[in-house]
Amino acid sequence: MNMHVSDAAPDPAIRASTRGARVVLRGLEKSFGAHRVLHGIDIDIPAGQFVAIVGRSGCGKSTLLRLIAGLDQPAAGTVDPGGEIVRLMFQEPRLLPWQRVLANVEVGLAHADRQTRTRRSQDVLAQVGLTGRGGDWPAVLSGGQKQRVALARALVGQPTLLALDEPLGALDALTRIEMQELIETVWREKGFTAIVVTHDVTEAVALADRILVVEDGRIAMDVQVDVPRPRRRGDAAAAAIEGRILDRLLTRQATFSA
Ligand SMILES: Nc1ncnc2c1ncn2[C@@H]1O[C@H](COP(=O)(O)OP(=O)(O)O)[C@@H](O)[C@H]1O
Ligand SMILES: [Mg+2]
Repeated sequence: MNMHVSDAAPDPAIRASTRGARVVLRGLEKSFGAHRVLHGIDIDIPAGQFVAIVGRSGCGKSTLLRLIAGLDQPAAGTVDPGGEIVRLMFQEPRLLPWQRVLANVEVGLAHADRQTRTRRSQDVLAQVGLTGRGGDWPAVLSGGQKQRVALARALVGQPTLLALDEPLGALDALTRIEMQELIETVWREKGFTAIVVTHDVTEAVALADRILVVEDGRIAMDVQVDVPRPRRRGDAAAAAIEGRILDRLLTRQATFSA
């Protein structure tokens, strides 16, 4: 078995995971005490779509993602990711410091025999550009490399839905762009549904098929990003979409501070 999952002869079990979850949200409501955070959210996400959720800080992006991922329950309404395999990735890599890199990836694949866990974890480490780093301790890795391990741990269980909450928020600009390209590449290869929360509208436009803008507990904008892939940085159509979304977000800020 070769280590390059993206080559012509991948592990059949990995290739078999090439499908995405359909996610349907109906009348979603969520409050914390008297504070209503989400109000009447209806969204249909087709299988395999790459969705970005943007909005002002505190508008409810993480709350929405947690509901979609089943980490929290809505006050009303339904979430149907339908028996799917959901994995999450956060801004902090959340690695176990007392486990080496390979063992950290294996954590994402609890229900498999030892040999399969090791082989799949090595395959997925290669896919995120960390061939040969399985024996390292997390402490010796850079921030970007730690996030690659976190991505590998999320991918090794062959999710049909990958939910990412500001996954690149702590990285420097260049590492961030490299990670965006990596996430896009694995998404295209594997076909899972991806939902990324980000405060970075440029990142949303670079990655997503569709951008949802959350405002006052509702979906204020639902924008298709019909820019062909692979996307070129500085693309005029992408810049126009980014401008529209930023205008909306900044106008709201002016209203609040007036
Ligand atoms: N567990 C919680 N208990 C109380 N309030 C919460 C909790 N989680 C989030 N909130 C509140 O809900 C709102 C939305 O939070 P969040 O979804 O984290 O926003 P975002 O991710 O868009 O910055 C905020 O006002 C936040 O303080
Ligand atoms: Mg958040």
